[in-house]
Parts: sequence; structure tokens; C-alpha cells
Amino acid sequence: MQVRAAVLRRMAAERPYTESHPLTIETLELAEPGPGEVQLKIAAASLSHFDLSVVDGNRPRPLPIALGHEAAAIVEAVGEGVFEFEPGDHVVTAFVPSCGRCAQCRNGRPALCEPGNAANDNGELLGGGRRLRDADGQPVNHQLGVSAFAERAVVSVHSCIPIPKQVPLTLAALFGSAVLTGAGAVLNAGRPTPGSTLAVIGCGGVGLNAVMAGRLAGCREIVAIDVTPDKLELAKSLGATRFFNARATEIVEAVREATGGGLDLVVETAGSLPALELAYQITARGGTTVTAGLAAPDSALTVNQVQLVAEERTLKGAYVGSCVPVRDVPRFLALQEAGLMPVEQLIDREIGLDELNDALERLASGAALRQVVVFDRHS
Ligand SMILES: NC(=O)c1ccc[n+]([C@@H]2O[C@H](COP(=O)([O-])OP(=O)(O)OC[C@H]3O[C@@H](n4cnc5c(N)ncnc54)[C@H](O)[C@@H]3O)[C@@H](O)[C@H]2O)c1
Repeated sequence: MQVRAAVLRRMAAERPYTESHPLTIETLELAEPGPGEVQLKIAAASLSHFDLSVVDGNRPRPLPIALGHEAAAIVEAVGEGVFEFEPGDHVVTAFVPSCGRCAQCRNGRPALCEPGNAANDNGELLGGGRRLRDADGQPVNHQLGVSAFAERAVVSVHSCIPIPKQVPLTLAALFGSAVLTGAGAVLNAGRPTPGSTLAVIGCGGVGLNAVMAGRLAGCREIVAIDVTPDKLELAKSLGATRFFNARATEIVEAVREATGGGLDLVVETAGSLPALELAYQITARGGTTVTAGLAAPDSALTVNQVQLVAEERTLKGAYVGSCVPVRDVPRFLALQEAGLMPVEQLIDREIGLDELNDALERLASGAALRQVVVFDRHS
């Protein structure tokens, strides 16, 4: 079957992306779903910094690659041995397919699935190999087992999280990555107690979900830190109580002083070393620093060992928000439906596939939050 899809053939194109056009919309050949696979009709796929970091070369992936990983879709066909889904079911895509059998999956940590992450690193599906070919018959890599900036995708059944049919699919798309990552970093990795204090560094699509989760967890103080004033405004409307520009001089001293010596929990969702350094420095004695942002692979934090010990600090990473997606996607969707997690406020634009380069530029410039490719409407 032929599908239109956004393909990246060269990383680190010069900006503005509106002129260099790093993504090309190509017609690809999509294979039928094999055993344990599902064919999805993509309804909506949102653009995340995770996608941008492949485009800008910050997090290299095998090329050419069909991008897009944060999506909601309708099941169109199932391969042999798939009993969990039938055509017409609605799903959110999980960007780490979890095999359910490896040591990490058995320990309840599907984000760390060994074969799932190996397949993602290779640009393959969990079952091995690629299901996309270009006009010359050459294989095209999958992004994170999904490749959702496409009219249709074939994915592992382990990349699909069922959702109720009444959930709007444009909204649902965000739950596969931004919501799991941001809310999970607070609720699953940070686990703040009611009345404790939280700071979120980087108030984009991921970070604002962390702010909302902090409010849900009963944090009495939620400090929002970003480099863009608009993001801080939105953080305020979602529950943040104090605001700092990360570029302000003596920011560490200012935050520590305003918060009586730092925060119990600091969550870094900017994806840069300076942001993680700041996060660690404004964490209080006995506190926890969680990093969910994805910096360049060679980025390295220097930690004072004595301080780590004598102040009983905790420093931890959170991938996919340390979530169990089949548990947490329905949980967060229910919170949104109850009006307790207004994720819908993070969608600032609906676009067509052809507008992705413009959307990339807006995201890179800090002007955008979640821009969602909506297929039936624009393509
Ligand atoms: N851990 C995971 O499983 C996971 C999943 C998805 C995305 N991510 C990563 O999370 C990060 C955030 O993704 P997003 O889609 O929300 O990106 P985004 O671009 O929407 O948001 C990033 C925010 O950080 C701000 N920022 C940049 N530098 C800063 C600094 N030094 N200090 C404070 N704020 C700063 C930007 O202004 C922006 O508001 C990215 O690095 C992305 O790759 C991680």
C-alpha cells in the first residue's frame, strides 16, 4: 500500500527549516502487517522536541527515517496472532514497544524493554526489520517503532495502547509521549508528597504536564523555569506559583533564596546540560532531581560526590515518565476528562503534513507548544 509520509534524509540542516526543508513528504510503500503487528490509520500525530532533536542532529538516528512518534490512530487491520485489537479500535502509540518478556518488562519497567529499545535504536520494528520502502525500493527506518507522520503505519502490537472511542483523537495523540513523560516524571519518578515543593525546568509540552501533575500531587509550591516568558504564563494558568527566567543572572541564588533553600523535587524537561545543572543546584538538601529531558548523547553532568552523600540527594532519570503505558494512559485520560489535567490547553495548532517544516521551525524557535498533524482535516 502507498502512504504519504514525512522523511528525514539528512540531519543538522541549517535553519530556518522553512527554507532548508529537512523533511520531505514522500510516497512510501508500506508492507502488510506481519505476525504480531497492526496496521494503523493515523488520525493525529503531534510534533515533539524528541522529533526535532533527530532533525537537528542532537540525537542521531539511522537515516533515512520516517519521523513521528506521538500519535493516536484507528486500527485498520491486524496481523497473524493479534487478538488484543480488531479493526475500528482506537489506540495511542507507545514509543517504546515493550515485549513483556525481558527482565525489565517482567520487573514492571516497560520503558526499559531491552528488545524494544534495541529495535528503536536500529530504526526497526520490535519484530525486526522495516516495513517502509521508498520510491527506489530502499528501506526507510522507523522512528521509535511508530513513524506516525504518515497516513498509515504498521507497528508492533506492543506499540499500541487501547483508548476509549469517545476520546478525541487529536487530544489523545499527546498522551503517548508528552503526557506520559511529563506527568510520569513527577508522579512515578519524583513521587512528591502533598505539601512538598516542586520546580519544573523547561515548560514545553512535556514540562507543562509535569506542572499539572505537581498540582494534582498537592505540591504547595510549583516553581516554573523557562527561557520564554509565554511558557511561564501558561505554566501559571496550569498551577505554577513562582516563575523564573533560566537566563537571569544569579538564578541559582535567587531560586534558593525564594524557596528557603531549594525545592524538594526538581524535574528537568528542557533537554540540555545547563538545565540539568540548574536543576541539581536548586534541589534542597534531602531532595530529588529527576531528569526527563534528552540532551545530546555526549552531554555529561559533574556531580559533587560529598554533596550527594552529605545532603542525601537523589538524582534519577525518567524515560517515558517511568510509566506503564497500559496503566497510565487510561489514568491520565480519566484525569483529563475530569478536568483535573487540562492537556487540551497544550495544543496550539492543527496542521497538515505539508506544514511540518514550518512547525519544526516554530518549535525550534520556542514559539510553539504542541502542533498536531491532523490527517482527515488537512491531508
Ligand atoms: N524522557 C523521555 O522519555 C522523553 C520523551 C519525550 C521527550 N523528551 C525530551 O523532553 C524534552 C522536552 O520536550 P518537549 O517536547 O516538551 O520540548 P519543548 O521544546 O516543547 O520544550 C522545551 C522547553 O524548554 C525550554 N528551555 C530550553 N532551554 C532551557 C533552559 N536552559 N532552561 C529552562 N528552559 C529551557 C524551552 O523554552 C521550551 O519551553 C526534550 O529534550 C525531549 O527530547 C523526553
